[in-house]
Amino acid sequence: MNKKAILLAGGAGTRLYPLTRIVCKQLLPVYDKPMICYPLATLMLGGLRDVLIISTPKDLPMLQDYLGDGSWLGIRIEYAAQPKPEGIAQAFLIGADFLGDAGASLILGDNIFYGKLDFYRKALSLERGACIFGYQVRDPERYGVVEFGPDGRALSLEEKPKNPKSPFAIPGLYVYDNRVVEYCRALRPSARGELEITDLNLVYLRAKELHVKLLSRGMAWLDTGTQASLLEAGNYIATIEHRQGLKIACLEEVAFRMRFINETELERLVDALPKGEYREYLRLVCAEGPGAFSPEPAA
Ligand code: DAU
Repeated sequence: MNKKAILLAGGAGTRLYPLTRIVCKQLLPVYDKPMICYPLATLMLGGLRDVLIISTPKDLPMLQDYLGDGSWLGIRIEYAAQPKPEGIAQAFLIGADFLGDAGASLILGDNIFYGKLDFYRKALSLERGACIFGYQVRDPERYGVVEFGPDGRALSLEEKPKNPKSPFAIPGLYVYDNRVVEYCRALRPSARGELEITDLNLVYLRAKELHVKLLSRGMAWLDTGTQASLLEAGNYIATIEHRQGLKIACLEEVAFRMRFINETELERLVDALPKGEYREYLRLVCAEGPGAFSPEPAA
């Protein structure tokens, strides 16, 4: 099934105040680039080229100014407003026209994934049902939590449970078939007034059409919801980038390696960049060529 992507980058950013007083959370730096580059790179590495970015009416112009229509990255980016943070699942109602008859993958704008993304590409090739992931964390009560039965099947899903039934948090990366819009229309707001992503996933679980895949401990899933986790994520990215001399989620590089843009197009982008380390890095990437890098094509 053909899939389109939604990147949810709204919310009030209250936990990060006063950092979010001027700029929205998803444009705050995570080491050497704006936060939104990381989830956008994940979508692109999954092979997705149609992206809807949803944010607040106040923050949309700044995001739009940075990313434009996506053509410079060989992708198509559209924008839509979420006037109030009325829940993650509301993204599918806002994005219903954008999705048309395609399936959907949703990523939260404050989630960072680093590692082999085969698990995601496999999920994207799903024809029917939904796929979410589980990742072991020290503090599952901060997240959606999935409990597994002895046969490895998901038994229950709970949003921020006081007493988590497992250490497996559900990362902010989801894949759905096209029924997602119809299912969201039937959801009712929770006690806190939000259309909950966990309630949507429960609909698929009850229909026995929810796949839950555990991410290996070799994957890094970082969130940036608090000052401390934002700093930790920045330090993590800096550590890996210094060690390897490679950048994580450098959008121009990802577009080039995915062959969404060619050498001439990358050269043109590099020429327009301000002098500095980022430009020098991309010049090297351009000189080396896209390499043998080629993920399995997503559906
Ligand atoms: O990070 C993964 C977790 O994300 C999942 O494990 C949880 O099941 C899921 O509910 C969510 O939990 P959070 O506590 O992180 O949700 P939060 O309300 O902070 O929203 C996550 C991001 O989505 C945040 O950057 C703001 C954005 N957002 C959120 C809501 C509710 C929106 O853009 N619009 C919204 O209406």
